[in-house]
Amino acid sequence: MQAIARSCPNIALIKYWGKRDTARNLPAVDSLSLTLDSLWTTMDVKFSPEILQDELIINDLQQNNEFSRVKNCLDMVAGKNRNFAKIKSSCNFPMSAGLASSSSSFSALVIAANSALRKEWNTHLFANQAGAISGSAARSLLGGIVELENVYNGVRIQQLSKPNRWPLKVIIAITDTKKKAISSSDAMKLSARTSPFYASWIKDQTFDMKEAKTAVVDQDFEKLAVISEHNCLKMHSVMWTSRPSIVYWNSATINCMHAIRNLQKKGEAVFFTIDAGPQIKAICMPENEDLVEKSLSEIVGVKSIMKSDLGSGPSVDINI
Ligand code: PMV
Repeated sequence: MQAIARSCPNIALIKYWGKRDTARNLPAVDSLSLTLDSLWTTMDVKFSPEILQDELIINDLQQNNEFSRVKNCLDMVAGKNRNFAKIKSSCNFPMSAGLASSSSSFSALVIAANSALRKEWNTHLFANQAGAISGSAARSLLGGIVELENVYNGVRIQQLSKPNRWPLKVIIAITDTKKKAISSSDAMKLSARTSPFYASWIKDQTFDMKEAKTAVVDQDFEKLAVISEHNCLKMHSVMWTSRPSIVYWNSATINCMHAIRNLQKKGEAVFFTIDAGPQIKAICMPENEDLVEKSLSEIVGVKSIMKSDLGSGPSVDINI
């Protein structure tokens, strides 16, 4: 009754921000993302009648705080009368800092828990289970470029492009590794209640998705760049105009944006996106990678750089 799964975070280009059903954690909008390969989370889940209470260890540190999202996730997969579990997780990048660690963590948890119980692989079911805990986690069930669509009663994910069909590079400038002040989930609820821009954000998403999907099919970098930056800045405008306002950026975040805009003016194929945190993700073509990395690493406040190709999706490493 033990399995270890490995999953990678995904970075949304057309973002999910807002819920259509808070109780079931269903997203208000469709979204499109890139699954990474060099950032990862592994999840080792063991259910046993000999374990006397749920236990969570993250990066070798025993977690003493309540970890209700993890327990709810296991209850959903295994049922409320399940055996207690020991969960050991490792993550090779900062968590809860706007690097989509919940997407890799909850997708890996769902896969490990199902595999530990010897349940058959079911991408659609696993995506819905992971999405019920963290909306973005549903997209990490597939590699490459992934679309998440709202369907009746849940979500559906599909791969729009295999990782090597359009080998985009993702360069992440880490500007602060502290845990974010407000969780995405709470921030989304606040935005839906208070931002005057929330309704138009939801309304325009269909157009943004269509543009981005066409750009992916045509491998039109320029088109994908324009719509992704626009979508990202709209999401942050919704955050900024929430009351109280939600500002995840710092000065290095803004300086990185300017650096990327300067590269664009020189004709370099690169664009940025930013999630619920101060880190900048630059997406570029392989030939621009070194230049983008160099320009971002020279910016004051950039603490480190992480780089990734597109990944091929999650795996179960050991099934004991
Ligand atoms: O899945 P959550 O609850 O961590 O929310 C993710 C929200 C964003 O990362 C900001 C956007 C997205 O689509 O991933």
